[in-house]
Amino acid sequence: AWERDLAGRHVVVSAGGTREALDPVRFLGNRSSGLQGYALARTAVARGARVTLVAANVALPDPAGARVVRVESAEDMRKAVLAAADDGADAVVMAAAVADFRPADYRDAKIKKTPGEGPEPIRLVQNPDILAELGARPHPGQVIVGFAAETHDVLANGRAKLARKGCDLLVVNQVGAELTFGRPDNEAVVLAADGSAPVQVPRGPKEDLADVIWDQVAARLAPPGVP
Ligand code: C5P
Repeated sequence: AWERDLAGRHVVVSAGGTREALDPVRFLGNRSSGLQGYALARTAVARGARVTLVAANVALPDPAGARVVRVESAEDMRKAVLAAADDGADAVVMAAAVADFRPADYRDAKIKKTPGEGPEPIRLVQNPDILAELGARPHPGQVIVGFAAETHDVLANGRAKLARKGCDLLVVNQVGAELTFGRPDNEAVVLAADGSAPVQVPRGPKEDLADVIWDQVAARLAPPGVP
């Protein structure tokens, strides 16, 4: 029985997709709905955790019982996630789709069409990798979970990403984006850095995958009261 197995724990979940501003009205974004992250937040509340949900551009109602921090860009998300992680977090689950790149130059004024001139190219610079940063810094007693969407060689690509990001668990979606984004159901394999066998999660509600993820997190938490 896992009903209240996260009581006394603080867990941080990121959800949604970041927007990287070009000018005051335009941005580069992605199609993440936030459904998986919100399912993680709801199930963690149900299991007794104190939940900080860092939500980027999600059109979903706040989950009851979670503290919701709304952010827009990857830089905003980095600050909010690191602050929450440093607030005694027992686990951080990065379910958000974080933009890998952002426009190099933000224009304070709306970009205009100039008659007779073609469009200017958009130069991009790399965003910080929040998951890799969490994985690279010392995090004793803190379980770090990442997500990956792989279309082929799921296990090999997943293993490589797990190692590269330094996280404890990696949830690999086995399907293309069109079969995951915005849908209420999901299918995944959960890989662990500690060498335990991959956990296959058949297609089902995102809540079911969320519960499997929390099972895997809970199994890796130090017993309550151990600093
Ligand atoms: O490298 P890739 O984007 O496939 O990794 C996905 C995982 O890394 C997700 O958990 C995502 O939240 C996280 N990520 C991040 N910061 C980035 C890019 C991805 O935390 N800049």
